[in-house]
Amino acid sequence: MGMHMNMNMKDLNLRIRECRLCELWKTRTNPVVGEGSLSARIMFIGEAPGYYEDLRGCPFVGKAGQVLDELLHSIGLDRSDVYITNILKCRPPNNRNPTTEEIKACTPYLDAQLEIIEPEVIVTLGSFSLGYIFHKFGIMPDKISRIHGKVFTVNTISGIRRIVSLYHPAVATYNPGMKDILMSDFKVLEHL
Ligand code: URA
Repeated sequence: MGMHMNMNMKDLNLRIRECRLCELWKTRTNPVVGEGSLSARIMFIGEAPGYYEDLRGCPFVGKAGQVLDELLHSIGLDRSDVYITNILKCRPPNNRNPTTEEIKACTPYLDAQLEIIEPEVIVTLGSFSLGYIFHKFGIMPDKISRIHGKVFTVNTISGIRRIVSLYHPAVATYNPGMKDILMSDFKVLEHL
C-alpha cells in the first residue's frame, strides 16, 4: 500500500525532501524526515516539527526533545538506539494542529519508515500519533488518559508489534506533574 516499497531509507528521505503533496513545503524551512538507528527496536512517533526542528531539520531538538532525551536516558537508552520521527514531516505554521489532508498526504512516508525499520515497539507521542497508529493497526481508539503506558499487542504480516501510547513530552514542559507520569510510563519500555 502507499508508497510502493522496497524503497531504502536514503531514497525515501530524498522523496520527503522534495515532497509537495501538501502546502506545508511553502512555509517550512527544512523537512524533518526522522533520525536514529535503522535497526532500532523502538520507534517513537511524534506530531510534527516545531520551530527548532524546522530550523535544524532534526526531530525533537527543542524543549520537548530535551524531555525526550531525559526519558530515554532514564531507561538507559540514547536517541541513537531508537528511531524518532513524526506524523508530519514539515512544520505547520505557528505549530497549529495537523489537518486531516496533511496527515493523509504525509503518512505514506511514515508507513514506508515503518516498513523499512520494522520496529518491534511503536511508541506514539501525543494524540495525532495515537490516532493514526491505532487506526492503522485496527485498535479501538481511546482517551490518552485511559491508555497511556499500556501495552497493546498486534499481529502483522511481519510479526508481532507492541504499541505504547505516551503523553506528548511537550506537556512536561508546561505541566511538571506530567513528567513523573511520563517517567513511569517509560519504564514499561524497559521490558519490551
Ligand atoms: N514535537 C513533535 O511532535 N515533534 C518534534 O519533532 C518536536 C516537537
